[in-house]
This record gives sequence, C-alpha cells and structure tokens, in this order.
Amino acid sequence: MLRFVLLMKAIVYHRYGSLDVLKCEDIEKPTAGEEEVLIRVCAAAVNPLDGGSVKGGGRVVNGLLKPKITGLGVDVAGQVEAVGRKVTQFKPGDEVFGACLSYPHASGAKVWVSSGAFAEYTCASESTLVLKPDNVTFEQAASVPLAAFTALQGLRDKGKIQPGHAVLINGAAGGVGTVAVQIAKSFDAQVTGVCSTRNVDMLRSIGADRVIDYTREDFTTMGLRYDLFFDCIGNHSLSACLRVLNPKGIYVMVGEMSGRGIIALLVRITSALILSMFISRKLVVFLARPKKEDLNTIRELLAAGKVKPVIDRTYTLSQLPEALGYLEEGHARGKVVVTVGDNIEPLATTNRAPGSASSPGPVLVAFVLIATPLGVLIVPIVVALILNRRFRQRNPDKRGYRWGYYFSVMSFIHGLGLGAFLEFGATAVIVCGLIYAVLACFFAQRHHWAWIALTILSFNPIAWIINAIYLRKRWAEAAT
Ligand SMILES: NC(=O)c1ccc[n+]([C@@H]2O[C@H](COP(=O)([O-])OP(=O)(O)OC[C@H]3O[C@@H](n4cnc5c(N)ncnc54)[C@H](OP(=O)(O)O)[C@@H]3O)[C@@H](O)[C@H]2O)c1
Repeated sequence: MLRFVLLMKAIVYHRYGSLDVLKCEDIEKPTAGEEEVLIRVCAAAVNPLDGGSVKGGGRVVNGLLKPKITGLGVDVAGQVEAVGRKVTQFKPGDEVFGACLSYPHASGAKVWVSSGAFAEYTCASESTLVLKPDNVTFEQAASVPLAAFTALQGLRDKGKIQPGHAVLINGAAGGVGTVAVQIAKSFDAQVTGVCSTRNVDMLRSIGADRVIDYTREDFTTMGLRYDLFFDCIGNHSLSACLRVLNPKGIYVMVGEMSGRGIIALLVRITSALILSMFISRKLVVFLARPKKEDLNTIRELLAAGKVKPVIDRTYTLSQLPEALGYLEEGHARGKVVVTVGDNIEPLATTNRAPGSASSPGPVLVAFVLIATPLGVLIVPIVVALILNRRFRQRNPDKRGYRWGYYFSVMSFIHGLGLGAFLEFGATAVIVCGLIYAVLACFFAQRHHWAWIALTILSFNPIAWIINAIYLRKRWAEAAT
C-alpha cells in the first residue's frame, strides 16, 4: 500500500559530540499520539540541557553510544495543528506553550530528555501544554517553561518560600535566575540577586530588592543571612553556602555552572544529601518536573504581568549551533530563543564557544567507565599483595596480612575522598589523607588501637563486619 510521507525540517543529531554534530534534516512530520498535540512551532527556547544532551550528558537514558531520541529542544510555543483522539483541552488553531519531552528510559523513569522543539512541527503531551496568554509573544512564552518549572518548584516546594523571607538567588541574571527573582517577588519575599556589573540594573528592573555584584563583593563573606538560598551556579563550597543561611535556612541546589566537571558535581550532590541529615539547615538537590498545575500557575503569572520574560538574544532555527554556543559561554542575560519561520536555511557554521570542545567518544567513555572502578579495585589489591609479599620475605615465620594491607590502602583513599567531601579545599584533602595514612601505617604494624580507629573511620559497614570477625580471629591467634 502506498503511504505518503510528509516531510519537515528539524535539527537532529545522530551521534554525541560537539555542536558540529547537529544537522538540519528533512524528516517525517510527526503525527500526534492519542493524548498528544501536534504543534506548528513558532518559537523554542535554548536550555543548558540541550547542549548537554548533544554532548552525551543524557547517555544513561538516551542511549549509551548514540542517541535514541535524535530531536532536540524542550521549551516550545506555537499553534495547534492537530490533536490526538483523547485530547479534550485543545483544538486546531489554539496558541499554546509548554514542554515537549520524551521519557526513553525502559524503566519508565521520567527523565527530561531534550526532544524535538527545534523543528517546524513537534508533538507534546496534552498534560505539558497550556494556552498562551494574549499579552505575551510566542518568543516570550517559549522562553519560560523549563526555567519557570525550576524556579517555581525550587522556591515553593523545595525552598518553602514564605512572604517576608530573605531569599538569595545566585545566578539571578540567567534564564532560571530572572524567572526565579520574579516568582520570589510574587511570594512577597525580600530578594537579593547575585550577578555581574552589567546586569545589576536589569535585576533591579525585574524587582530584586538588593543586587550583589559578584565581581566586587563576595556574598559568602558579607555577614548577611538568608532563609532561602537558591543557587543556579554552585561556585562556592557547601560550607560557604551554609554560612549565609539562617539556622533553619534552606539551600536549594539548582545547577552547576562552575565548570569543575562531573566528579565535582557528584561529590557536591552527595555531600549536600549527607550533610543535610546531620544539620538543622536543609540542603536540597532537585530536578524540575513538568506538571500541568504548575504550568497553569506560570500561565497566570505571565497573564498577570508578574513574570515578564527577559530575552537576551533571538536566533533563527538554522543558527541553533550559534545559539547553543552563546549559552555555553555562561553569560546569557535571561533566555536565548530560536524563532521558527517558513524559510529555513542550512545550518549556519558553528561559532564555537570556548569550552565547547567535542565530547569524549564512546570508546573513551567505555574506557573510563571500566578503567576507573577497575583501577580503584585492582590497584589497592596489587599494592596489598606486594606489601604482603615483602612482609612474608622479612618475617618468614609469621602469617601474611593481605586484608590488612588492602584495608589500609583503601582507608587512605577514603581519607582523600573524605577531604574532598568536606569541601574545605586542598587543605582538608591533605589533612584527611595524612591522618588516614598515619593510621594505616600503625594499622599495618598491627597496633590494635589503629585497627579500631581505622575500622570506625572507614564509614563502611562491610569493613566493620569483616574487621569485627577477622581482627578478633587474628588477635586471638597473635595471643597464642
Ligand atoms: N535542577 C533543574 O531541574 C534545572 C533546570 C534547569 C536548569 N538547571 C541548571 O541551572 C543552571 C542555570 O541554568 P540557566 O538556564 O539559568 O543558565 P544560564 O541562563 O546559562 O545562566 C547564565 C547566567 O549565569 C550567570 N553567572 C555566570 N557566572 C556567575 C557567577 N560566578 N556568579 C553569579 N552568576 C553567574 C550569568 O550572569 P553574569 O553574566 O552576570 O555573570 C548569566 O546571566 C544550569 O546549570 C542548568 O543546567 C537545573
């Protein structure tokens, strides 16, 4: 049977890498699923998530070696072209905005995957769209969804914002920050925004009560205290962030733009989660979720003029790599938006931002994924065997001590990890490393007090059990 395929232009990527892997292709025009809406895209906004997806930041959910979802872009605004059989809230011709998302993970886990707003047409679930208010343009509407979900859920649900609360927003001049300042003001909070000199006036104009210019002052050492710290940048240590909070204050970690890399980010998230169990101040890490009721709230804020989108630059669809490159520089003032018109040209050559180097290839990723755990496991084992052999050569009449050496080496590694975890800089890493190294030396010489100290300080229940059984046995042997 003959099937006519309608084509449309869309930005796609078939492999992970630098922004050069983006292509503008003629692909099949999508059709709306039962609960979906087909949108003729008028505008789509650029988010850090998009560039991260191209570089393979979503490999775990979107395919380890190559992307399963090849489309890009979450925030969308446009006109409804067609609706699925079960859609009740929209009809063709309606002007809508919202998020177009995919959840490609087999487990059904709902993860944001940048999925197809940078195209002439895209499909989105009815549950992630609302009608566009008349007082905003398509560009303004498209600029809002992901940033506003993040700001609203971070301030209201995680940060428990209340009228009169002193709220600090780091990265207040960015896409999320500019919306967060206005949403915090809509809760009648006292808002302090942190930005560079050129954005001070803009922040005041959108309602910030106080603006701190980070090029002149460091908000962590000014002696000011806040009930809520909404951090889009993550460029200060957790201990410094805690310092600016009131005793019951809440630190909401939204993003990491310090450029310290994925390991630093994971250490920071883990530290925040663990620390929050032991202190009165609360540290929260979260990922925004698309929710219809929140989108309705955002729509009301836009319609009431309480949130006025700040748009820095507008690009055409074929300039998307340039738009992503500009965002990557980390100094966009508000949002960067892409307009989708009728005449779509081939992709403009990428004017790559510094730091937008190609992502590591699949072979390198596989190597790091395999080599790192192997290194951490195998190197201490090899070192332990060597030390044990040396001990046996020097003390032929005594029994070996492999586990002891292995445990000592691992303890030293834990010491370094603990130092990094405390985030007090290189001094903490060196001090912890030294303490554990000294304990490990005494432990290896079979000093009982060092065995006990190191066992406790391993913070490792498995080591506690093994040592409790093993050490008792070895001590009993030594006594005979
Ligand atoms: N948790 C979530 O669900 C979620 C959702 C969305 C986004 N995010 C994350 O949130 C972060 C922010 O996103 P975004 O869209 O707002 O990014 P963005 O628009 O690219 O942010 C750029 C802004 O960061 C500011 N900035 C750069 N360095 C700064 C510094 N040292 N101190 C203070 N401000 C600084 C810049 O202001 P100046 O030009 O004045 O320096 C600029 O206005 C990203 O890491 C993103 O991945 C998380």
